[in-house]
Formats: sequence, C-alpha cells, structure tokens
Amino acid sequence: MKNIILFGGAFDPIHLGHLNMAKKASEQFDAVVFFIPAKISVWKNESAPIEDKLKMVELAIKDFGEENTFFVSDYEAKLPNDVNYSIDTVKHFKEMYPEDKLFLLIGGDQVDSFHRWKDADEIAKLAQVIYYGRLNSEELATNIKRFNMKAVKGEDIDISSTEIRNGSSLETTDSVINYMIDHKLYFINKISTMMNEYRFTHSMSVARLSYEIALANGLKDAKKAYLAALLHDVGKEMPQVEQNKIVEKYFPEYLDIQEDLYHQFVGAYLAEKEFGVKDPVVLEAIKFHTTGNGNISEVARIVYCADKIEPTRGFNSKSLINAMESSLKDGFKAVMTSNIEYYDRHRIDYRNRLTLACLKDYYL
Ligand SMILES: [Fe+2]
Ligand SMILES: [Fe+2]
Repeated sequence: MKNIILFGGAFDPIHLGHLNMAKKASEQFDAVVFFIPAKISVWKNESAPIEDKLKMVELAIKDFGEENTFFVSDYEAKLPNDVNYSIDTVKHFKEMYPEDKLFLLIGGDQVDSFHRWKDADEIAKLAQVIYYGRLNSEELATNIKRFNMKAVKGEDIDISSTEIRNGSSLETTDSVINYMIDHKLYFINKISTMMNEYRFTHSMSVARLSYEIALANGLKDAKKAYLAALLHDVGKEMPQVEQNKIVEKYFPEYLDIQEDLYHQFVGAYLAEKEFGVKDPVVLEAIKFHTTGNGNISEVARIVYCADKIEPTRGFNSKSLINAMESSLKDGFKAVMTSNIEYYDRHRIDYRNRLTLACLKDYYL
C-alpha cells in the first residue's frame, strides 16, 4: 500500500508555493502527490488553456527535482464538463488505486467552507483531508473535527498565481517562466501588445540575459532583474505627448532630462499601474535603465547593462556579457566604456545628470 495525495487546483500557473506545500505534505505523510489542474479557473479571461497549465505543472515538477514523487494528472482536464466536483475526482482515484491510502490536500482557507462541498462526508470517508496554511478563523474551524482533518506543518506561503498572471511576481520555476514567454501567456501577452515584434524580442532577450547575469553573480534578487527587464521598455512606444504628460505629473523632478529618455520613467509608471509591481528594486531598475543613476541597486545595474549588450542588439557583445557574468563591478565598467565610445562616435550627448551620477559612482 502506498500513500497518495490528491492536490487539485487551478494551477494558473503553478508556483513555488504549490510546490513547497506539496513537498511538505509529501514528506509528512510519506506520500506521492498528484497535481490535478482544473479545466476552468474562476478568472476565465486571464486564464491559460488547460493544455498549457498541464505542461507547466510538468515542467515545474522537473525543475523542482521531484519527478519520482510528484505527478501530473489530466483527469479533470479530460472531463467533458467544465465544472468538476472533488468527490468525483476522489472516487476516480479510489477506483484506480483501491489498495492505497488517499489524502486530499486543500488550502487552510478552504477549511471553513468544506462542509458545503458536494458530498463532503463521503470525500472525508474516502480520503484523509489535509490542509496547509493559515485558517480563515481558528474558532470557526469546526470542520477540522467534523471531517477529522489533519494539518500539514510548514510556514505560511505568501505566493499567488494572480500576481504571476498580472506581472508583479515571478515566483515560479525557470521552465515555467520560459514557457510563459514562449507562449505569450498572462502578462507576457500584455507586454507583446504594447510594442512591436522587434522590441518584444529585445525585451525578452534583455530579461533572459539579466537573469543569467544576476545568477552568475550570485544575486538573491535574480528574479527581480528578470521581471524588471521583461517590463523595461513597456513605455517606449507610447506617443511622446502622452509620455510628457506622465513625466510632468508623476516625475516632475526629471523634466530636465532629454525627452527621448522619458520612456524609462513612463515604464516604471506603467509597471506599477498596469502590472501591479510594487517592489521598489524592480521599479528602480526600470526607471533608470537608459540613463543609470548614482547609488542604484545591483539589479538596476544589471538591467542597465543587459539592455545595451543583449545578443539581438546587432554587435558582438560576447566579451561584455562574459565580463558582466564574471564580475558585476568590472563588467559594469567595461559596458560603460563601450557605451561612452559609442556615444562619442555617434556624437550623442549622454551628459545628463543621471548618467553623470552613475559614472561618478561606478566608473570613475
Ligand atoms: Fe529602453
Ligand atoms: Fe531596451
């Protein structure tokens, strides 16, 4: 006999919270885990097709290194109806694995309403209900007794699929992010509608390079560089008149900077307003990606450089990429040197106060 945990959900998309939750449950109950993505999410219009959700769970399991313990089930995906009840899923697995012990993993926030689930008593007879995370209210948790639920022990996990869909978090695995980019899912699709094909390819390339450089330099915040770079040029194709209005209203302190650089401020504005980004490190990296600035984070310096040296830029930037990957400090100087040579050659005036502040702190 083996122990089997059934873990249903929207997985739209799967994230690190789901994976860590499954890991804790699997360890505590010595069980394998079946992830069972539901066909329809509550958020229909933002949802990814079920085929993509299944594929992303598969990729996440591989990235997480749990291929022998975690499995993806297309049982609910293949049902003729859009809506499915947990009781039917539990019965299905009971038929498939009559000798094994079943567990049903639910969120702590679902405990209170569990008695309203279809055939709740029968579910609890066929499977041991286990829950993870904070309860809505300790006093109201009478369902724990009534259905003999057990808690999965672990810290609270504050990661949400909504934030990943909207573009304010990348707290999922690398292959899932790559998949979202390749298939233009969720906020990636929105980015693609805000710019032409060429700029979209450039943005994705800056993002992948920023992430690589951040990882190579051992940054804890590598995902922040990734996110900032994905969004860095979302303001670039807004008509200049509109850009000017945004800078006048929200960034009046930068009205002295050249107009054609305004898109960096507009990008930061849109990242916050349209994509829900709140992280100051991400916003700063977008806000100074063209000019740089004094006293900026490592993430901001990485995005600044990656924007200039990403491989689709059309010059051989391999040695600069290598320099950035081996040392942020020296790599940054090397990119600055190449930049200044370029500006001088093309008689471009780069001497705005932000770039000068950046040179003072990181170059001279
Ligand atoms: Fe830009
Ligand atoms: Fe760019």
